[in-house]
Amino acid sequence: MTQLTIAAPGGTVERVRLRRTSSPVGGHAPYHPYFDYDRPMPAATSRRSERDALYERYRARIRTSPHLDRTLVSFQANRNMPGFGWLKYKEAFSAPLAADVIQRYTSPGDVVLDPFAGIGTTIFAARRLGRRSIGIELLPVGMSVMEARLSAEAVNAATFRRRIEAIAGENWQQHFDAAHELAHITITRGAFPPATERAIAGYRAYCARRVRDPHVRRLFHLAGLSILESISYTRKDGQYLRWDRRAKRPRVGSRFTKRRIEPFSEAIDRQLARIGADLGDVSGGPEPDLRCGSCLDVLPRLDEAGVDLVLTSPPYCNRYDYTRTYALELVYLGLGDGDVKRLRQTMLSCTVENAAKVQQLRRAYAAAGRDDVCARIVGVFERQRALGEVLALLRDRGRAGLLNNANVPRMVENYFFEMCFVVAELSRVLRPGGRLVMVNDNVRYAGEEVPVDLILSDFARRLGLVVERIWTLARGKGNSSQQMGAHGRRELRKCVYVWKKKN
Ligand SMILES: C[S@@+](CC[C@H](N)C(=O)[O-])C[C@H]1O[C@@H](n2cnc3c(N)ncnc32)[C@H](O)[C@@H]1O
Repeated sequence: MTQLTIAAPGGTVERVRLRRTSSPVGGHAPYHPYFDYDRPMPAATSRRSERDALYERYRARIRTSPHLDRTLVSFQANRNMPGFGWLKYKEAFSAPLAADVIQRYTSPGDVVLDPFAGIGTTIFAARRLGRRSIGIELLPVGMSVMEARLSAEAVNAATFRRRIEAIAGENWQQHFDAAHELAHITITRGAFPPATERAIAGYRAYCARRVRDPHVRRLFHLAGLSILESISYTRKDGQYLRWDRRAKRPRVGSRFTKRRIEPFSEAIDRQLARIGADLGDVSGGPEPDLRCGSCLDVLPRLDEAGVDLVLTSPPYCNRYDYTRTYALELVYLGLGDGDVKRLRQTMLSCTVENAAKVQQLRRAYAAAGRDDVCARIVGVFERQRALGEVLALLRDRGRAGLLNNANVPRMVENYFFEMCFVVAELSRVLRPGGRLVMVNDNVRYAGEEVPVDLILSDFARRLGLVVERIWTLARGKGNSSQQMGAHGRRELRKCVYVWKKKN
């Protein structure tokens, strides 16, 4: 049976009282006390020494793969794939990559886990290949897509197609009902032209009142969700939404102009037709176990050694804010300002706004009688010297005014702190001999490279995994033009790591 635990988004959020250290980064910034930032750093000549040593340790494991390219490790290859490309989730990896990894490392009936499931690329690739799967995802957007995907496999295709034929060209404004208008949050207000706003409300009212079949309704819901960017004045741009200059929004000083803003009826007809055409090509398989929530909460509750393969891609340590980028979709799903803020704080720390989850994790492990496990994980985190080096250097950069946000060092620290818990739990739930395959990018701030691949691999090694391979793409990520100008053109590795649980 599908276990679809749709909880209220957010979960427990905590404002931690942190020791205030006198930080050069914007006066006093709160840090949690694990790293002793005031410890003298090695002399300037050896300032890369810990990272260089770490590189040497794993150098033999790093290989460029002739098979990997940007299309495979990104959403691009999914664009036209039935089911996988319905909602443009740029952060996804591709179904062909997932299928390849799953076939390589598992057999039918095995269990595949993705703790950062997104729109379910791993989960549905596993399902097609007859593998059981567990997907954990916090953002309700991803959960809605996965739910709809299950409905696509269950719906009667002929009924669905008849239905969409009957409503093609409908004037949705005629169905307008104020009760179904979008309840905008601060960052989405004014995102649609007024006629589109009314058409959305009409479509939502129609779906709620007139579409009885739950599978058809879910697919209609997905169609509405997946066209929001194309009918709005906005474009997703990583850290935030970019606004078209035509938007009637105070303080929009944007010079950006989208090519075309689609009318609602045109976009919805197109999307429903696409889903209808794809229905024959989405096949089922073992029911996935889908959990909506933070993997920091869910993973500790999974059984030990019950998973044959973990295939995942966590948020990158790149300040990318899913709650801003997907703000329109979150509003469509009914989230308010408070919900979105709570969600932002529950996400794995990868934005400068995230508060530390240190106390929250400590308390959760203590409540489960696992203080010793918690202490061990924290020990692994604290002993990662290359991370200590990079954090101290970032702090220096902040002191010199070279960081464009004072909270970057704190964000990087929190990212690795939380990822250390994730890696530890993934190691625990993997069966001996099972693989953990992770897609992730290295990052750089103010010229300082953060070797995410090496730091996470070193955590993995200390937490019971063997680092088999760090595959890199033939061409890594470049750099922002600003950074390239300032710091030269050294490429950042874009990687797929393969770790194996010791037998
Ligand atoms: C790089 S994306 C993964 C995309 C996925 N591989 C796919 O193909 O759709 C990272 C995902 O992690 C989710 N996420 C962030 N923090 C999370 C947390 N604490 N627990 C579970 N999921 C989280 C984000 O919402 C995002 O969907």
